[in-house]
Amino acid sequence: MLYIGIDLGTSAVKLLLMDSEGKIVNIVSREYPLSFPHPGWSEQNPEDWYEQTVAGMEELLQNADKSQVAGISFGGQMHGLVILDKDDKVIRPAILWNDGRTTEETDYLNNVIGKEKLSEYTANIAFAGFTAPKILWVKNKEPENFARIAKIMLPKDYIAYRLTGVHCTDVSDASGMLLFDVKNRKWSQEMCDICGISVSQLAACYESYEAVGTVLPEVADKLGIPASVKVAAGAGDNAAAAVGTGTVGDNQCNISLGTSGTIFISSKNFGVDQYNALHSFAHADGSYHLMGCMLSAASCNKWWMDDIIGTKEYGEQQKEIQKLGENHVYFLPYLMGERSPHNNPNARATFIGMTMDTSRADMTQAVLEGVAFALRDSLEVAKSLGINLTRTKICGGGAKSPLWKKIVANVLNLKVDVIESEEGPAMGGAMLAAVACGEYGSVEEIASKVVKVVDTVEPEPELVARYEERYEQFKRIYPACKPVFDIIA
Ligand code: XUL
Repeated sequence: MLYIGIDLGTSAVKLLLMDSEGKIVNIVSREYPLSFPHPGWSEQNPEDWYEQTVAGMEELLQNADKSQVAGISFGGQMHGLVILDKDDKVIRPAILWNDGRTTEETDYLNNVIGKEKLSEYTANIAFAGFTAPKILWVKNKEPENFARIAKIMLPKDYIAYRLTGVHCTDVSDASGMLLFDVKNRKWSQEMCDICGISVSQLAACYESYEAVGTVLPEVADKLGIPASVKVAAGAGDNAAAAVGTGTVGDNQCNISLGTSGTIFISSKNFGVDQYNALHSFAHADGSYHLMGCMLSAASCNKWWMDDIIGTKEYGEQQKEIQKLGENHVYFLPYLMGERSPHNNPNARATFIGMTMDTSRADMTQAVLEGVAFALRDSLEVAKSLGINLTRTKICGGGAKSPLWKKIVANVLNLKVDVIESEEGPAMGGAMLAAVACGEYGSVEEIASKVVKVVDTVEPEPELVARYEERYEQFKRIYPACKPVFDIIA
């Protein structure tokens, strides 16, 4: 049998075809535009997602035996607000996970409703990118659109809806809406009341590995696949990536170096970060996880390479980097503000520490290191909760760079296990589809059978010690700059 995993990302949709044994048969990718209509805003058109997903599936299946396709599922960019009217038409462009427009609404939720109540109802506090503050923003700033809302959906769920006709979501993605009682895996009536919406405006919520339906006849016809193909609910991209890298069960870690950067820690038990810096979400394997999310990770390097230096030769630029652990230049990677742990949409990216002998290579290195230091900030929160990690998996575009993996291993002092394929969310999506179709009994079972570690990057004690000193300095830069960021914003 064949399974399609769809990773609905921010810059592109990646599609992966996997066979019953977990072998990757084909991978394709299709880009779509991302618009920043105002500084700090970030939007996409759901129709672009759907068009590119369908075109991508056609390309993916070109040389495959289409009659063998049994299931489709997803990893999707989280938190995005997609609103549909009574005819299931999209009301306005989707407001994405890295959009920082909701400062007022986030403050209202955290300070007027109060963090204690939010944490009691949802296990989380409000962050600007979460879905509930965006609903309040539409209510406050676009009341005519708010009045037309019949369904509130997340990005990948809109694709599931177009493929099956079913309004559905899954527990991991629902967790990031701030409308979901994570502990009890159900919608929070209290949060719906606070946002002025009803539970019936939300989609039916499934476990990630459950089938929500089969493809619509017209979809089956267009793709040439059987009408019996099941669509599984899928997961938020980080939970799907965790499945794809085998980060399931207790106390396993995965780092994703994608547009965002995340550190994802799986747990058999429900738990809340008492400092509310890490998110407490449901996992796609039926359990829970904690996660720190930085808004700009591989996107910092992409920005620095493509837009500032003007090159696509990332590897060539990285070859010039010689002196790990000795860089006197630091980079704060807050190009879109920051989520974990600072929760500050006003934070901005900053280079600091340049002198007349600073080279371009030093600055490129500072970008890679700044992302690793910012991930370390979230790891420190996890440590303070008594979580003890010695190793992590890694995935995402940034994980293609051997140098960046080495920097991550040494800045975080973790062994970094490299998986055969770094296509985390798309692989996880295909694996969830295989479980939904009964090919495997559980997410843990498929992860133990198909995910293969092919290499481990070991931290080197001397380099770890040097990075420890650099991190102590890095930690002091954000608090020093924060008052200036507030003025600039
Ligand atoms: C997680 C988050 C990002 C997006 C990226 O909380 O906001 O990782 O899911 O697609």
